[in-house]
Amino acid sequence: MEKINVVILSDDLDLRIEVKNLLLREQFAISGYSNYGAEAKTKIINMFPEVVLCSVRGEVPDSVFAFVQDLLTSVRNSMVVLVTDNISVDLVNKAAGYGIRKVMPLTDVTPQEFSEELKTVLALEQQRSLDSNEGKKVRCKVIGFFSGKGGTGKSTVAVNTAVYLAREGKRVMLLDLDLQCGDVAISLDADTKYSIVDLVQDRGGITIENINNFSVDHSSGLRVLCAPKSAELAEYVQAPSVEKIIDIMRPFFEYVILDMSSAFNDITITACESCEEIFMVYNTDILSLKNAKMSYDILDQLHQKDKLRFIINKYEKGIIKPEDFTNMVGLEIYYVIPYDGKTAISCVNKGQPAVLSDPRSSLGSSLRHLTDKVIAEHTGIPVLMEPEKKKRKLFPSGGMKKSPKKKQVSDENYLFDSVESGETKKSPKKKKSKKEQG
Ligand SMILES: Nc1ncnc2c1ncn2[C@@H]1O[C@H](COP(=O)(O)OP(=O)(O)O)[C@@H](O)[C@H]1O
Ligand SMILES: [Mg+2]
Repeated sequence: MEKINVVILSDDLDLRIEVKNLLLREQFAISGYSNYGAEAKTKIINMFPEVVLCSVRGEVPDSVFAFVQDLLTSVRNSMVVLVTDNISVDLVNKAAGYGIRKVMPLTDVTPQEFSEELKTVLALEQQRSLDSNEGKKVRCKVIGFFSGKGGTGKSTVAVNTAVYLAREGKRVMLLDLDLQCGDVAISLDADTKYSIVDLVQDRGGITIENINNFSVDHSSGLRVLCAPKSAELAEYVQAPSVEKIIDIMRPFFEYVILDMSSAFNDITITACESCEEIFMVYNTDILSLKNAKMSYDILDQLHQKDKLRFIINKYEKGIIKPEDFTNMVGLEIYYVIPYDGKTAISCVNKGQPAVLSDPRSSLGSSLRHLTDKVIAEHTGIPVLMEPEKKKRKLFPSGGMKKSPKKKQVSDENYLFDSVESGETKKSPKKKKSKKEQG
């Protein structure tokens, strides 16, 4: 049985131990302890607890209630319980007003009774949030971005998807598995002090605490575990460690995004096996077409075929069309991202993904819609695209000159819809003839 992760809060060290002793070891895992100080909130967020036990001896000061109120604005998936030796009706009412789910006794209770009651409260709380669809604990989805060809835009798409998922309030980890040439850190202007190599070499082993210690926060809320700074360090990371890292991350994130290398090595194969979905990123050129077929066949032999989704990136009208991939590889096109070199280059140079720094560019808007599609499929809740269209109208980019640009974006969206529904050939023509009629 999976243990329930608990964080115990108290400024009093003896009280922390007392509360810990009320929890049956076989049912609860202590993710950590904290005081109510300024640093506590960030610390607690990174411990991903299911339950936060605020423990107080004697009268509960207002500062504890204020702390809980502030904490609950950031940790939507944690339940806060107050443990005190001073229970009164007034206290219970006041606690409820601050979002505390339960006030539990510190004394005159056995560990069995305490643990049982805490489990019951948590089960009720989880049921409540499932029913109301709020704070719903969605199963983790591991999504890999792969192609057997370099430079097709795997990292660009992986980074932007991860950042936008985080921006939409999801708990997301981005793992750079291009161990020799990983450039996720550069694309995000992230601190590269630590990498996956530090994690696998640490004496403490691969634990969620160490994953937190060696990963970095991005301003979007995304966590990133970087590739090593130099290529020769890559050999310290072996496939079983990668599998273990992903498994340990699962309970703590809604999405784990893997940016993979274009080499079919042990790490790539293990990563593919750990994925729920593998996005294959290709361009409309003959080398991509050839490589797509080859990579598809290998992944088919490895029994990964059902996970594959095909993304065409850097799309421009040319001799090779998205449907050529469908014909040759036998896989529907999942999504098409237009060529937008200007945005792509400026974003890499700034270390800011397009979905944040240039969300209205054709690259930024396309990648946002891709992410919306990913979220909709995972949660089963469709994302409305309408406000986006309205926004465009509300903020016209200025006068006559810019209007062709506007048209370009809507044409691209049209193309995506048609490609997604497998009508790549006919739809653009249909639109043209409609216009001609009008
Ligand atoms: N849709 C796009 N339009 C234009 N350039 C792009 C697009 N997507 C990615 N790029 C550029 O292509 C290059 C390779 O992208 P990258 O994501 O590093 O590929 P990979 O990870 O597959 O090697 C980068 O310079 C990137 O900015
Ligand atoms: Mg890359």
